[in-house]
Amino acid sequence: MSKESRRQFLAGLAGTGLMSLAGCAGLLPGRDGRGPSPPIGEGDQEPGDSFEPPTYTPPEPEPLPAPDVTRTLQATEATISPSGSDTRRTWTYDGQYIGPELRVSEGDVLEVTLQNDLPAVTTTHWHGIPLQNAMDGVPYVTQDPVDQGTPFTYTFRAEPAGTYFYHSHVGLQLDRGLLGPLVVEEADPHVDYDREFTVVFDDYLDQPPEPLSNGGSGMGGGMGGGMGGMMGDVRPPYTGLTANGRLPTNAPTLDVEEGERIRFRFVNAASATEFRTRLAGHRMAISHVDGRPVDPVTVDEFVFGPGERYDAVVKMTNAGAWQLLADPVDGEESPARVDVQYEGQDGPPRLPDWGSGQHLRYGSLHAREEMPVSGSPDRVYDLTLSRAGNSYTWLIDGQAYPNAEPLDVKEGEHVRFRMINHSPVTHPMHLHGHFFRVGDALMDTVRVPGHMGQVSIDFRADNPGNWLFHCHNLYHLESGMARVVRYV
Ligand code: C2O
Ligand code: CU
Repeated sequence: MSKESRRQFLAGLAGTGLMSLAGCAGLLPGRDGRGPSPPIGEGDQEPGDSFEPPTYTPPEPEPLPAPDVTRTLQATEATISPSGSDTRRTWTYDGQYIGPELRVSEGDVLEVTLQNDLPAVTTTHWHGIPLQNAMDGVPYVTQDPVDQGTPFTYTFRAEPAGTYFYHSHVGLQLDRGLLGPLVVEEADPHVDYDREFTVVFDDYLDQPPEPLSNGGSGMGGGMGGGMGGMMGDVRPPYTGLTANGRLPTNAPTLDVEEGERIRFRFVNAASATEFRTRLAGHRMAISHVDGRPVDPVTVDEFVFGPGERYDAVVKMTNAGAWQLLADPVDGEESPARVDVQYEGQDGPPRLPDWGSGQHLRYGSLHAREEMPVSGSPDRVYDLTLSRAGNSYTWLIDGQAYPNAEPLDVKEGEHVRFRMINHSPVTHPMHLHGHFFRVGDALMDTVRVPGHMGQVSIDFRADNPGNWLFHCHNLYHLESGMARVVRYV
C-alpha cells in the first residue's frame, strides 16, 4: 500500500467531512506544531514531517474450503428511529441500527460480501475473531478501503466459539451505527440455559460524529473544560444510550417465564461509553468474557468498556417486572434499558439498587481453557498511555498513529505489553487477531484505569501479519491511540 494512497485516503476523509482539521492534527502530529514530535527511531527516522510510517502488506491468506454460510452485508444510508417516533438518516448495515445478528457454528467458514453503498469508503472488522490477517478489515494495514459501489468479500473460519461483533474500521463510522453482533455458537457450552438473548449497548448520536478537540470549537467543545486538567474526558453530545438500537423511552421488552434460564450475550459496541450493567431483582452468573468461557462468577453488577463482551446466565426466579440497565460510568445520559417482564406481571418495571452486592473484578475471572502463555516472556514492551500536552491527541508510548513505529514481534514468541496509564481516563485497549492473558483470564479488550492504572497483557505470537493494537474509545483511536503489532 503506497504512501500516496494513504494521503489520498486522508484527503478523501477530509473531503467527506469525516475528519476535521483537529482530526488531521491528530493523524499527522507535528504538522501544525501542536502535536507531539514524532520520536527518533533506531534507523533513519527523523523527527518532524520526514517521519514516514511504514506500509503494511498482509501475508497471502491460506485457501479455505467452500463456505458453510454465505451472507451479504450492505453498508447503506437508511432511516432509523431509536426513539420510536423521531427519525433520522444515518449509515447502517442492511438498513438497520443495530445491524443484523450473524450467527454461525464454531468452525464454519463464513463468507460475507460487504456491498458498499455509502457515500464514502469503508471496511468491516470482525472484532475479536483471530482470523487470517488479510480479512481483518483495517484500512491501510490489512486492505485498501472499499470504494463506494464496490463489493469486498471477507472469508474466514469462525472460531473459537463466542460472542463477537462486527463494525466499520474507517474513521468515526462506528459511531454512525455501522455495527452488528456476530455469534459463533459452541457445540457444547459449559453452562446450562434454556434460551439466549443478545443485548448490544451503544451510545447514540443524532448527528454525524466529528473528531473531538480540546475545548473551544467543534463538537463537545463546550464540555471540554476537564480535558486541560486531570479531570474527565470530552464526550460527544450523545442523544442517549441504546439497547438493541432503542433509547430508554422506547426500551425493548424481554418476556420471560418463571424458572427459565436466559443466557445474555452483552456487547458494548459504544464508541465512548463504559457501562455499569445490572438487572434489578436478579444476580447474574458471568460465564464468558470476550467470548472465552470462564468458571461462572455470580455477581450483582459488572462494568464493561467499548469492545468488551460478557455473557451471563440468569435464572428467572423472582416474578415481577424489572429493568436491565446499562448506566454510563462517565456521562449524564439515562441508562440504556431493557425491560424484563415475567409472564402475567405488569406494572412499572422496578429499578436496580445500584452499588449494593457483588461487583465483578477481572481478578475473579478464571479461564476454562489452557493458557497460551505462562512464565516469563520472550519480549516485553513498556507502553505508557497518555494525552499530548494541550491537544486532543492520544499517545501510546509517546507516539500518535499512524505516525508511529510498529511493535515488532516474531512468530512463536511469548509477548508481554506492560501498560501504564498516565491520563485520568480509562482506556479499553484492544488487540486484533489474538486473545491475551490478563491474570487468569483470556480476553481481547482490557480496561486500563486512569491515574496511573497498570495492566499487563501476555500473548503468544501465533497469527502472522500486521495487527492493530488500540484504544477502543473511537475518539482516542482517531486521535492517535493505536500501534501496529508487526510480525518480522
Ligand atoms: Cu473493534 Cu480495531 O476494533
Ligand atoms: Cu483511550
